[in-house]
Amino acid sequence: MDLARIVADIGAEMAAAPDRGAVADYIPELGAVDPAHFGMAIVTADGAEVHTGDAATPFSIQSISKVFTLALALGRLGDQLWARVGREPSGLAFNSILQLESEHGIPRNPFINAGALVTTDAILAGHAPREALGEILRFIRAAAGDDDIHINPAVAQSEQDTGDRNLALAHFMRAHGNMKNPPALTCGTYFHQCAIEMTCLQLARAGRFLMGGTDTPTLVSPERVRRLNALMMTCGHYNGSGEFAFRVGLPGKSGVGGGILAIVPGCASIAVWSPGLDQNGNSQLGTLAVERLVHATGWSVF
Ligand code: DON
Repeated sequence: MDLARIVADIGAEMAAAPDRGAVADYIPELGAVDPAHFGMAIVTADGAEVHTGDAATPFSIQSISKVFTLALALGRLGDQLWARVGREPSGLAFNSILQLESEHGIPRNPFINAGALVTTDAILAGHAPREALGEILRFIRAAAGDDDIHINPAVAQSEQDTGDRNLALAHFMRAHGNMKNPPALTCGTYFHQCAIEMTCLQLARAGRFLMGGTDTPTLVSPERVRRLNALMMTCGHYNGSGEFAFRVGLPGKSGVGGGILAIVPGCASIAVWSPGLDQNGNSQLGTLAVERLVHATGWSVF
């Protein structure tokens, strides 16, 4: 299999694609990103790296950060975390508040915003946001093997300025006793975590621990790696998770910055970035690119 050729062909197709989706504009700084960008990087279990397009351009990882914070929170709290957040797909938008009312302030899963706020609240645990963010960045840098990964303060501020919906989720959960720190602190930490920037190459390298297998960095136990992948498959694309599983057949996590991290267990870590989103807030061309890749390579968990 000529992976370099496959990836180059995908890059050429995506660069020329006319329908690129719509860039997220509810966070104004993200609305300013040029939808013409496309990048893809793949790191395989044997350490080979293949990339195309803007694979070395940093972008806002947004909700992809939720995979790393979940791994970190589980490492710290173990299965206790599951008393505060569920493991079922929500079937609703990533920022929905609907289920929280009838489900006693327990979010459906750790990848919708409410669930990710609980995860961040668990990492914060009375410490200063700066310390929690330091821990999150240390984890991601260790996973990527790269210290040149930072928070974009303008994106964090932009989200802070427009973050009423996340604050509402946090306050609602606090009313149910499921938010231990003041909502402003947890949300402030979360906004900064979402504003971390990475390139496709850095993100694909950071995803290596999710591949499992003995040749990949062992940041997380094999059992937990399996569980993280299961959650990515069932919940990683919100109300588009079924569609992503149907079209791609890999565990994946999207972000409204237009990035997707997808894992081929035991085989490869894939990062793709195209800022235009589909109606569920997932990268339109990013999804198509990973679909093309699995079609050409036969990579799938099924
Ligand atoms: O909280 C938010 O709305 C954003 N910081 C992250 C949302 C996100 O990435 C959803 N993903 N597709």
